[in-house]
Parts: sequence; C-alpha cells; structure tokens
Amino acid sequence: MGKLSMAAASILCMALAALAAVGEAAVVEHTFVVHEMNETHLCNTTKIYVVNGQFPGPQIDVTEGDTVVVRLVNRLPHGLTIHWHGVRQIRSCWADGAGFVTECPLPPGGDHTYRFNVTGQVGTLWWHAHVTCLRATINGAIVIRPRDGKYPFPTPAKDVPIIIGEWWQLDLVELDRRMADGNFDDNPLSATINGKLGDLSNCSGVPEESFVFDVEPGQSYLLRIINTALFSEYYFKVAGHTFTVVGADGNYLTPFETDMVTVAPGEAIDVLMAADAPPGHYHMIALANQPPLPDPQIPVFISRGLIRYAGVPNDNNGLPVPVPIMPNQHNTMPSFYFHNKLTGLAYPERHRVPMHVDERFFITLGLGSICRDPTKKVCKRRRSNETIVVATMNNVSFHPPTTTSLLERYYDGTGKGVYTEDFPEHPPRPYNYTDRAMIPPGPLEEVLEPTFKATKLRRFKYNTSVEIVFQSTALLQSDSNPMHLHGYDFFVLAQGLGNFNPKRDVYKFNYHNPQVRNTVQVPRTGWAAIRFVTDNPGMWYLHCHFEFHIVMGMATAFIVENGPTPETSLPPPPPEYKRCGANGLSQP
Ligand code: C2O
Repeated sequence: MGKLSMAAASILCMALAALAAVGEAAVVEHTFVVHEMNETHLCNTTKIYVVNGQFPGPQIDVTEGDTVVVRLVNRLPHGLTIHWHGVRQIRSCWADGAGFVTECPLPPGGDHTYRFNVTGQVGTLWWHAHVTCLRATINGAIVIRPRDGKYPFPTPAKDVPIIIGEWWQLDLVELDRRMADGNFDDNPLSATINGKLGDLSNCSGVPEESFVFDVEPGQSYLLRIINTALFSEYYFKVAGHTFTVVGADGNYLTPFETDMVTVAPGEAIDVLMAADAPPGHYHMIALANQPPLPDPQIPVFISRGLIRYAGVPNDNNGLPVPVPIMPNQHNTMPSFYFHNKLTGLAYPERHRVPMHVDERFFITLGLGSICRDPTKKVCKRRRSNETIVVATMNNVSFHPPTTTSLLERYYDGTGKGVYTEDFPEHPPRPYNYTDRAMIPPGPLEEVLEPTFKATKLRRFKYNTSVEIVFQSTALLQSDSNPMHLHGYDFFVLAQGLGNFNPKRDVYKFNYHNPQVRNTVQVPRTGWAAIRFVTDNPGMWYLHCHFEFHIVMGMATAFIVENGPTPETSLPPPPPEYKRCGANGLSQP
C-alpha cells in the first residue's frame, strides 16, 4: 500500500470507528393523547387541555439525526394541530403542524401521525398546539443531544427543563374567541415554572406548590429555559448563582456569563448553572416584564421555585432562603442588553452569513383598524365600535383561511382566491415609528391608514438570500415582538433601539459570529435585522409569538419554491398527511 492510500485507509478506519461509537440514528415514537382535565389552583378548579395528563406535556428526547414519530389522538371537543417549534423540517413542511398554514386542524375524535427528522440541530426546542390559545397548556420540551455525546462545554451532571408558562382560569378556546372579537382585558392569574404557580401565590393562606430542583454541591447543571407563555417576556434568576449561557433555539452560543436570563415567548435558552454556592436552599424567580405607563398595565406575573442542595435539612438549618433581586418589571432594558450580547459559536460550514442580499424587507410591527363589517370600506374610526383594532406587519393584518391550508393550495396550484403573493417590502409610507406620542391612546389611524386585512404572502425562489429588518413601533402598547419563522434558523445581525437607520446601523451588523435563532426578540421601540437563505421549500409561517398579536394578525407566510433537484424539492404529502376536507378536517 502506498503512503497515500495507507493514510486514506486509516482515515476510513477512524471514520468507521467513530460511526460505530456514536450509534445509528433511532426512531423515537410517542403517542400524544390530548384530553380535558380538571386542575385546581388558587381555590378554583379549571378545565384545561393537556397531553397524556401532563402539564407541561411529555418531553421528547432525541439524539441529533433521529426521526421523531408522534401519533396524535384528539379527545378534545376542538380541532387541533401540534407544531414542532424550531424543528427545521427540511423537506417535511407537511409535518410542521401550523393550523391552516400547513394543515387543517385534526377534528375531535381523530388521530394523525407526524413524522420528521431532527438533523443539524442540538440543544432545546419545544412543541405546542398551534390553533387558538391551546398552546398555553398543550406544550412540552424537545431535547436534542449531540450524536457524539460531546458538548462544546463541560458535560453537565444533569439537564432539566425550566418551562415558564402561565396559569389561566379561563377556557382557552373562549379566551381566543374573546381576543378575536377585540377584547384584550383577560389576563392569566399567575406565572408558572414547570406548571407550578409557586409559593408566592396562595388562596386563604395555603401556598401553591413550587417547582423544586435538587442539586449536588460542586456539580454543574444544564437548564433548558423555555418561554411557553401566551403574553409575556420573563426575567429568570436564581439567588446566589450565576449562569453561563451556552445555547439558544437549538444552536450553540459563545459562552456568556450573566446572573439573569431574559426569555421571550418562543425562545429557548440553554444555560449552565454550577451548584457552587454554600450548600443550602435558594429561590429561583420568573418575573414577567412589561412596558411602563402610559402603556396599559397588566398585573404582576411571578412564579417562585427552589434549588435544594443535597444534605441540607428541609428547614434550611433554620436560615432564611435567599431570594434573587429582580429588576423592576417595567424596566425592559435588561432584555435588550441580554439579547444584544449573545453571539453564535462559529461553525465555518453551516454558519456562514450570506454577504449579498437578493430580497430586502423593512417590516413595521404596528397597529391599525379595519371596519368590523367586512363589506364596508368606510366606517367610523378612532376606536368606535364600527371598527376593530388589528395588529399589522407593514399595515397588513393577516387573515388566515378557515377551511383550507395554504400549503395544500400552493402545492395543488389552487391558491387563487385564497391568498396573494404581494406582502409588501416596506410600510406604505415612512413615519417616526418610535414616536412616544403614538403610544395608545395616541393618534392611531391618522398615522397608519390604510390598513388591510388580507392573506398576503410572499414567494421566494429557492436559494434566495433574504434580509428582514423588523421595526417595533410605539403603537401596539410599545410592546416588544418576539418574531418567529417556521422552517428556518436565521442569523441575527444586529438589534437596536429607536428607528432603524440604514446609513448608520448597517455598520453594526455582525457577519462574523451572529446568533442563529428561530425567534428574534425585536426590542420595544427598537429594531432587529436578520438574514437567511431560502434553502427549505414549503409554506412557512412568520409571526409574533405573543398570542394576542397572532390573533390580531401580526403574521404572514413565506412560500419557498422547489430547487432544481429532488433533494432541493418538497416531496408530495406523505401517506399519513390528512388533507383538508377529508374526514371533516376543517375548523375547530
Ligand atoms: Cu411556536 Cu408558529 O410557533
């Protein structure tokens, strides 16, 4: 054997050995039975919707490259879909589970199988119902472990999901109905950590149960922090401990030290926490933030949990349990700083930012009004009861279909009359987007008209480089907006406060090691710039992950055409896919 072929043979041997060591990709199967269940909190029993009797729902554990098969059995009196939030669904858009976007909801009594691969992603994602508000209780973690078992950080002793959510004492379908009718006065009763309200909430003196996490002194733990809440961004802290942020949305980050994590709805943040404090008990707190006055105010949502060191008696040796000092809930700047400081752990191959842009969008996230009576073009404005307030992207409020799915229509070539492909690249006219005088009840309609309620999508050729600058506006209660794109990870090039200024702000773009995300928290009265290449054909929902923003129409969908080869094309719907209209598949 010549020198070269010897080298080749030994490389081959090494490769084979590595393959054997890491194991074959597996098929991970679950059955999700969705049903109603009564749960009592704060002295009241509420009917909630859950998977397999669990709130939060079952965790899906996979190794990178595995196939996931979930059989969904719907025992609810409502239609249902499940979305695998952040799973790229390469060439499997049919399994994306976005109600009326990629499929019609599964009717009561039905069952449906989702099948997809989890490739090229590692860390934490999650799943949730994707019709109406059901995701408040129908959700759970997806944990993807590296195939070679190696992390780019010291291997943690254990990992634990920290699922931040909300407790609603209201039927979630009813909540959706009320929101769709323009009623936004409903609020959850409490925040939850892994379904627990925590001991800061009580009814007639009986405290609610807290989430408790037991640790061994000296060990390090991977906390997978997921925000499943319908409404709020959360601050999360543990007294006496700091975190190293190591990943987000199924991608690694440059390790970043902080004592607080901020997590917006739709985001999943992985942090390492060393149990290196003097052994004892320590409180953890999840606290919702909100804009200050003059924005309309919501109650304080908080859940408190506990870290317990092994060997410490239940009374913590008679000592008070330290409580983390939280920022003022009206101060949203810590969120901006946190999100702004994250960078991606650079991988030369997958993580190369496209340096040219084929299609450029500037998208304002705002508010407008339309006539309540859709046959009318003219009606009384200024929040009269002839109008309905809607959320918009470039003045378009998304009107989802209610009896068909956009993906099927596109695939069949029967989209005409259901959607158009003219989602605008910019708002109809520029204005001072972040002018505080526009915070409601400011001069809304005057600034923004015209507003459209329509199904305006956008179509891209395969391999198009797309840049989007999202601009949060002072309208819509000057909220931040966690914008989530299905089927893609994108580079977050920069974030800023105030109005985006292309001349000045492009110099802030990070082309070197930007974070790779599926959800970007567009700061309150600020902007965020993202870039991605359309390498995954299908119909992909883009929306704000605040539920009331979705219900009000802050959404659109991107059509990505097939590439030139079968490997770059969306295959036909798999046998298990149920088409709209078949077996009564339509509205809830
Ligand atoms: Cu978690 Cu369409 O989103």
